[in-house]
Amino acid sequence: MKTLVMNFIGGKWVGAHAGRTFDSRDPATGEVVGRCVDSGPEDIDKAVKAATEAFESWRRMPAPRRGEILFHVAERLVRDKETLARTVTREMGKVLAEAKGDVQEAIDMAYYMAAEGRRQFGLVVPSELPDKSALCVREPVGVVGLITPWNFPIAIPSWKSFPALILGNTVVMKPSPETPVTAALFVKVLEECGMPPGVVNLVLGSSPALGEALVRHANVALISFTGSTATGDKVAVEAAAHHKRVALEMGGKNAILVMEDADLDLAVDGITWSAFGTTGQRCTACSRLLVHREVKERLTRMLLNRMAKLTVGNGLKPGVEIGPLVNQAQMERVQQYVQVGMQEGARLVTGGKALTDGEYARGHFFAPTLFDQVKPTMRIAKEEIFGPVLGVIEVKDLEEAITVNNSVEYGLSTSVYTRDINRAQRAMRDIRTAIVYLNAGTIGSEVHLPFGGMRRTGNGHREAGQAALDTFSEWKAIYVDYSGRLQRAQIDKD
Ligand code: UN1
Repeated sequence: MKTLVMNFIGGKWVGAHAGRTFDSRDPATGEVVGRCVDSGPEDIDKAVKAATEAFESWRRMPAPRRGEILFHVAERLVRDKETLARTVTREMGKVLAEAKGDVQEAIDMAYYMAAEGRRQFGLVVPSELPDKSALCVREPVGVVGLITPWNFPIAIPSWKSFPALILGNTVVMKPSPETPVTAALFVKVLEECGMPPGVVNLVLGSSPALGEALVRHANVALISFTGSTATGDKVAVEAAAHHKRVALEMGGKNAILVMEDADLDLAVDGITWSAFGTTGQRCTACSRLLVHREVKERLTRMLLNRMAKLTVGNGLKPGVEIGPLVNQAQMERVQQYVQVGMQEGARLVTGGKALTDGEYARGHFFAPTLFDQVKPTMRIAKEEIFGPVLGVIEVKDLEEAITVNNSVEYGLSTSVYTRDINRAQRAMRDIRTAIVYLNAGTIGSEVHLPFGGMRRTGNGHREAGQAALDTFSEWKAIYVDYSGRLQRAQIDKD
């Protein structure tokens, strides 16, 4: 890498205050993808200042014009899809087809939010008094801080920034230290498509102090965070102490429920894709298979056959289906959970180990792993692993499957395979996750529907869809009295 990857503040690519750097590495090869400036709280200050200064004129720019910029962004992302996707694969390891999907989510979101520039509907309602009108309009909240993870390094920043921007907020982005080069490329697209200086700012760094500085900053009105539940909890506490809005998107422990009447071939496709796609490193990844006892043996055998054929390797190589884990820490975490599973009495059927031979030697590769005889009370059935590890839990009917599904503390995504319409209806009603799939896996949300989770997955906010507009705006109620006299609401009734 020739050039240093910089911060983007007030419309300029600038160095970090302390002059330190950190490297972003390819998890498949260990090669350096980019050397980046390693920022500190001073750089957050500068970025927030730039975003604060840009806010007034940005919020006054007509929303359709803000939308035109996002429309250009969409077209540019289409043009640069392949280049961006390659950087995603190199930086965090997901296979190229999935990296293109990551960019595609941003393209979809850019077109969708660009069009919101001409909608952003408010409300006009009758007043209770004569000669008086009443309306509600959306207002931007101000400077928003976006703390984003490495697993969807283009899609998630786009889910957060595009709705925020179309509503007239300005943005400070703090991406994961695993994917700074991708973040810089993403912001460069926004810059080149005409985002005015200060509207979007990027601060790169490896220290948790950066996110903390953003959450504590007096001029940041809202924090949108996606990441681990442990960090999200800290963000929530800090944000509350500083009286700011916070939208959290955290862990998942998603399940696929397979009933005895299901199309098992279809179920195997969905299970394989959901459990092992992205090396299990999605919030929506499936890590519990709740299967009816009548088909458990058959389904497990079919799944094992499929797993034996999965190709693990460098995500840039054609034919590879599963890339590496993102880093050594993830590797150790997954290994620990395998140990925990065995200690708890689950049966390791396949996988369970790092792949280290030949081309695997330099990367963080892990074999797709299946545990059988998993009990709902075991830690591997309750805690998020974020790796290619799936546990099979036997159930006797749909009711038990739903009870087990709902027993974890997370509530993001669930899928049910059945051909029985009555069961499908009951599942749709009783499953307590914010995303439900019928006869499809647990992954694959679309940008115009709300994305998020119940219970410990989130704090009630949603990303994407119309719900994203609620997250990044607040309502202003406006009363216009044209009676020319004092009219007292609730009092001047008779
Ligand atoms: C995430 O894992 O944080 O439905 C996001 C999906 C993707 C988004 C995943 N559209 O899996």
